[in-house]
Amino acid sequence: SLRVLTGITTSGTPHLGNYVGAIRPAIVASQSPDSDCFFFMADYHALIKCDDPARIERSRLEIAATWLAAGLDPERVTFYRQSDVPEVTELNWLLTCVTAKGQMNRAHAYKASTDINEAAGEDADAGITMGLFCYPILMAADILLFNPHKVPVGRDQIQHIEMTRDVAARFNHLFGQGSDLFVLPEAHIEEHVATLPGLDGRKMSKSYDNTIPLFEGGAKALKDAIAKIVTNSLLPGEPKDPDNSHLVTLFEAFASSEETAQFKTELRAGLGWGDAKKRLLDLLERDIAPMRKRYEALIAHPEQIEALLQTGAAKARATAAPLLKKVRESLGLRPMQ
Ligand code: TYM
Repeated sequence: SLRVLTGITTSGTPHLGNYVGAIRPAIVASQSPDSDCFFFMADYHALIKCDDPARIERSRLEIAATWLAAGLDPERVTFYRQSDVPEVTELNWLLTCVTAKGQMNRAHAYKASTDINEAAGEDADAGITMGLFCYPILMAADILLFNPHKVPVGRDQIQHIEMTRDVAARFNHLFGQGSDLFVLPEAHIEEHVATLPGLDGRKMSKSYDNTIPLFEGGAKALKDAIAKIVTNSLLPGEPKDPDNSHLVTLFEAFASSEETAQFKTELRAGLGWGDAKKRLLDLLERDIAPMRKRYEALIAHPEQIEALLQTGAAKARATAAPLLKKVRESLGLRPMQ
């Protein structure tokens, strides 16, 4: 069977980028009969970016309800919270000991922070925690603990998957004794939505404050967000260039190829941006409205979600135990049997 794993950081409310980049492809993969899936809430990762406990808790509930509303079947998928699986942090340390510091110096998230500091004339490492610096190792532990073949993610996570492969290969080389302890995972990227743009055309991201929420705030919030999509000042009747429009990219992420072709033709023929936004809203609602209904029912019962997560954590721990035992033995931490 094909093992598939992915996680979402619990530091905000899920947005369309999370949905098309990770959640939707993961759910599709989970529906194939020979897949064995592990989907989780990365709440340890959230601590790196967020020191507001109430927000982390709320975000976890929203993300869990989002997964379920999007079609995750907890009978088929091992669905859990990262912090309920202590084996993750144990493997994190074991991997930390074989990871080159120089490799972490090159991690995008860390480098972006040092660049900002340097541009502001501050010490490069000002305000940067070891959590941020070691973030990719924790992510490698999330992945390698379950030896998945495929990791559905958006393009911004590719470097992390490459680092995971490097760490796994190094570990196998040093301690595998001829047999591979870790599978080298592959990023599963949906090319046309790998970087979904936000309201302003840059990558949709919590840190740019340009996101379109998937469910939060209901249909009204979706409509309000769409109204804020930045367009050029061409008037209705004037021909638009649909190949350079992030509104069209958003449309494309939810439309069939025929629908997109039709939409582009109409824009070239002068469809106004206001009407284009209405069309986008209708298209999004076609997919989102039925899921939102389920989401609202789910989020009203946090205790039921919690029970599912407890079951998922037990399954995850049982799956991880034999590999972790082998890894410990390979390092000389436990006697070989
Ligand atoms: P996070 O929480 O930032 O994002 C969750 C997923 O959403 C994708 N994504 C996007 N895809 C397309 N267009 C966008 N604008 C967009 N914005 C976000 C991300 O690529 C990601 O797939 N480090 C991870 C969480 C994580 C993880 C893991 C993922 C922790 N451990 C193990 C996979 C495997 C993160 O912060 O994603």
